[in-house]
Amino acid sequence: MIAIDGPSGTGKSTVARRVAAALGAGYLDTGAMYRLITLAVLETGIDPTDDEAVATMVASVTFDSPTDPSAQQHELAGRSVTSEIRGPEVTRAVTPVSANPAVREHLATRQRRLARSGRMVVEGRDIGTVIVPDAELKIYLTADADERARRRHRQDAGRTAAAVAPASDIAAVALDLARRDDADSSRQHAPLQAADDAVVIDSSQMELAETVATVLRLAAERG
Ligand code: C5P
Repeated sequence: MIAIDGPSGTGKSTVARRVAAALGAGYLDTGAMYRLITLAVLETGIDPTDDEAVATMVASVTFDSPTDPSAQQHELAGRSVTSEIRGPEVTRAVTPVSANPAVREHLATRQRRLARSGRMVVEGRDIGTVIVPDAELKIYLTADADERARRRHRQDAGRTAAAVAPASDIAAVALDLARRDDADSSRQHAPLQAADDAVVIDSSQMELAETVATVLRLAAERG
């Protein structure tokens, strides 16, 4: 099992999906799980910062977690929410929801089960540190803040190109990434941090293909 952790906007999801596809492995996007719970919280009208109310409802949220790297469609109660979970409301509210220990504990059980269900590439913030500390290979993928903001802006612009929402500007994206990463890194439970035995890849100066090739080389070395 390969764990890929790191802050937002590094291209982590794309790298993880491509590595999984190249290895014929499954892919698990744990961020999507936190986003699905967050969307359910918002739709129920619960305050995402109300830890008790969120803890009470989390077990009742039912969803599937796709593990095919080329088919990442997400549904909530039978409705496709693949783009909605990436929208600004969910992105804002996912920070307090993912800092909630009851939510983390609930999702950890499912994440561990899926991580061990076959050859898997699992992507998140705490996979190598908390979820599967004995992963064969742990990658901590990072890039400098400006480059991450540019990448996320490009990705958002691509996503909204056909919709009415205006593309966000890079400065606003940078602020949002900094807000999320600070919160993820400083939270009490499962903060974002590199595992001691993780291979840190700084992809600031790397093309996507180079990053994928680096992870595949490390995976081959570990057998
Ligand atoms: O990866 P993505 O940006 O979709 O993750 C959304 C949010 O979910 C992150 O900002 C983080 O707060 C949370 N998350 C987490 N632990 C994970 C994956 C995501 O706390 N393993």
